[in-house]
Amino acid sequence: MTSRTAWAKSELEELANGGRLVPIRTIETAQGAWISIEGKPVLNMCSNNYLGLANNPEVVRASQEATSKFGMGAGAVRSIAGTNSLHAKLEEELASFKHFGSSLVYQGGLLANLGSIPVLVGKDDLVISEELNHASIIDGVRLSSAKRAVYKHLDMGDLRNQLKEHRKDGKKTLIVTDGVFSMDGDIAPLPEIAELGEEFDSMVYVDDAHGEGVLGDHGRGIVDHFKLSGKVDIEMGTFSKALGGMGGFVASDEDVIRLMKQRSRPFLFSSALNPGDTAAISKSLEIMSKDDSALKRLWSNAKRLKDGLLSEGYDLGNSKTPITPVMVGDEKKTLELSKSLYQESRVFASPIVFPTVARGMARIRLMPSAVHSTDDIDFAVESFRQQGKKLAILK
Ligand SMILES: Cc1ncc(COP(=O)(O)O)c(C=O)c1O
Repeated sequence: MTSRTAWAKSELEELANGGRLVPIRTIETAQGAWISIEGKPVLNMCSNNYLGLANNPEVVRASQEATSKFGMGAGAVRSIAGTNSLHAKLEEELASFKHFGSSLVYQGGLLANLGSIPVLVGKDDLVISEELNHASIIDGVRLSSAKRAVYKHLDMGDLRNQLKEHRKDGKKTLIVTDGVFSMDGDIAPLPEIAELGEEFDSMVYVDDAHGEGVLGDHGRGIVDHFKLSGKVDIEMGTFSKALGGMGGFVASDEDVIRLMKQRSRPFLFSSALNPGDTAAISKSLEIMSKDDSALKRLWSNAKRLKDGLLSEGYDLGNSKTPITPVMVGDEKKTLELSKSLYQESRVFASPIVFPTVARGMARIRLMPSAVHSTDDIDFAVESFRQQGKKLAILK
């Protein structure tokens, strides 16, 4: 270390003093209900592996077979020499699963947002963005250089006011929202947003990262859940949550996707998704299309978890999906609760603090999954009861 980087230490100290230095733990086993950390089994309550596909044997086999056949890397950026038949196949499958005309695969969900929003709008255009949108949307909007207005969380009156105030004829407008809000688990009122998009001639873009595999018929996502096919212009998604792997995509009509292939920077300037990851996602989609038993288990586990925590007196905010935010408020208390759950109850449940959520809104976000047993869920509830009482978070 040179003296020129000494500032980093003092910034870390400042984070620790404010109760915002989040420990990053190293997992030593595959994803599952129970994982190993520091050589000990712990109940995993914070992965986004909603349907258990991250370690599904068929999905793992598909990845291995594709790696044997196509090698590890795609070789180049997509537009030069990186697009292979697995990417093309997955894009067709996604478009059909999502009921859109076409789709484009990216190397991550974050890159899908960063890469696609600047193709849709530029500096003379307008984005109207939800207050609690994911960081990757916020950054995608920044990169677009479009003018930006923000509407209040779930507030359709405010969205209308922002459209009235800022929208200009002859310029493009994009309304952009998370479908399921990742830290709260509530759902955007997409039918009303689509109607406002129609009324104000504005494109509608939804980030379905936490709707995929969770909402709609066989987990087709939020557009399917609200039966809005043909009324939403762009759906973005990730493969890193319910689909169990890595990567992201956007789905839209054919011309939009063709233009993305000419202009989107992560497509043009970053190498393509690996063959193994690509084939694994095709397999995940195939499994989801055939069988929705994991989806049903996910929702029944989520209900059991929420009912249990509510009956102990916890505040779970306004979640309408399996995302279960245990609201604590104070940052230091939240870190303490997470630490004692881990050390004394063997429950791995990460704290979520500022800047991921607003100051004073710290929480532990629990992610039940299809691979948890009912005993696992009951164990989590009992552990929260014990540690919550000990720390006087519960009365
Ligand atoms: C709403 C939302 N959008 C985008 C992303 C980014 O997805 P990925 O992990 O595939 O980069 C996430 C993941 O954290 C998310 O929750």
